[in-house]
Amino acid sequence: MGKIERGSFGSRLGIVLATAGSAVGLGNVWRFPYMTGQNGGAAFLLLYVACIMVLGVPGMVSEFIVGRHAQANAAHAYDKLSGGRPWKLVGYLGILTSTIILGFYAVVAGWCLQYLWAAVAKPGMATKDYFADFSTDAVQPVLWAVAFILLTHVVIVRGVRRGIERASKWLMPILLVLLLVLVVASCTLPGAADGIRFLLWPDFSKLSSRVLLEALGQAFFSLSLGTACLCTYASYFTRTTNLLHAAGQIALLDALIAVCAGLMIFPAAAAVGISPDSGPSLIFITLPSVFQQAFAAVPIVGYVISVMFYALLVFAALTSTISMHEIGTAFFTEEFRLPRSRSAWVITCVAGVLSVFCAWSVGALPGLQVMGRSLMDFCDQLTANFMLPLGGMLVCLFVGWYIPKRVVYEEFTNDGALNRRYFRLFLFAVRFVCPICIALIFLHQLGVL
Ligand code: TRP
Repeated sequence: MGKIERGSFGSRLGIVLATAGSAVGLGNVWRFPYMTGQNGGAAFLLLYVACIMVLGVPGMVSEFIVGRHAQANAAHAYDKLSGGRPWKLVGYLGILTSTIILGFYAVVAGWCLQYLWAAVAKPGMATKDYFADFSTDAVQPVLWAVAFILLTHVVIVRGVRRGIERASKWLMPILLVLLLVLVVASCTLPGAADGIRFLLWPDFSKLSSRVLLEALGQAFFSLSLGTACLCTYASYFTRTTNLLHAAGQIALLDALIAVCAGLMIFPAAAAVGISPDSGPSLIFITLPSVFQQAFAAVPIVGYVISVMFYALLVFAALTSTISMHEIGTAFFTEEFRLPRSRSAWVITCVAGVLSVFCAWSVGALPGLQVMGRSLMDFCDQLTANFMLPLGGMLVCLFVGWYIPKRVVYEEFTNDGALNRRYFRLFLFAVRFVCPICIALIFLHQLGVL
């Protein structure tokens, strides 16, 4: 270990923002609206927020504790803290999960690149049917997805600090502002009220254990929780970072951005007659109408806003793919003592190949199915609804029961300096609440309960 120098983030703001950059991404702007749409709207939103607060925040703090205490990559962190017991499998699980996620995430990020390009070069072209046209092409979506992974690769080999920290500081707040502008634009479209009601007025008859599992998966996906991703980031935290604060702030920001994305999409979808349960294409078929209709009086404004929005979406996706990539890269660099660029290539190639097949499975090769759904959908469901909650449950058990309580206390309170009052609550959450809730949701889904 010791010989390879670990980077560390420069400023306090940089740490939280870079971790927030990992959390905020397509999970909020693309996945959240489409999941909410398919799972009945407001009731799903409530469950999602509950999962973030009750299970997400303690889970995040647990990953932070493991990462910062061990100061090592995902697998090595577990190994180090457990003295060679099989806990390091949790780290391996995380590396595997995040590489699979990178594979299908890049496809969606590639779609965003395509829309950015279309917004710049062919304004007004990207209408409702545009999505179906280009996504079924055999070549284009694949090229964009691979291009996106290569872009991530380039940032990764340039190093932790320079690559990630600088840009998020400026671009994240701009994304939030732009999102708010679009919320206003979309909510003032004629007929928008139905969409607002869909997102905010709960219909509890739509709840089921399936919806609960989807909400849990979405919460974890959106927080980047359950793959040791946060653990890897936390290994770059400083001794003075307040872990509970950081987790709370990131969770709040993340949920806020998801809700804004919902308030941008559903009113617009209602206004132009797109069904909320349109699936993964939801934001791509809805947004062009917002840009065209809401800014019809001054098309140039629509043009500028659409270009900025897709550009920021690409950036938000990039800060997330960087974090997925970093998990595997840090692992190969430190465990096998490979040069950083070579270990980055390992992840790039694996995720790249997966992304090609994922892109085809929702486009040119619809027959590419696993268990009755497209490969892309399968990867998404497998990771979000199964691997992430499992990873999250294991990290809670590890911190709650396995690591010496003294170590957990020291990390949680920064050696007794802060958050002492919340320690017992935290311990109770990671020992009992999180593992039991997640286990119950799993068992129920499997039909055991
Ligand atoms: N949270 C990110 C998003 O919302 C996606 C993400 C980044 C992620 N890193 C992760 C999800 C690690 C799970 C695990 O877009």
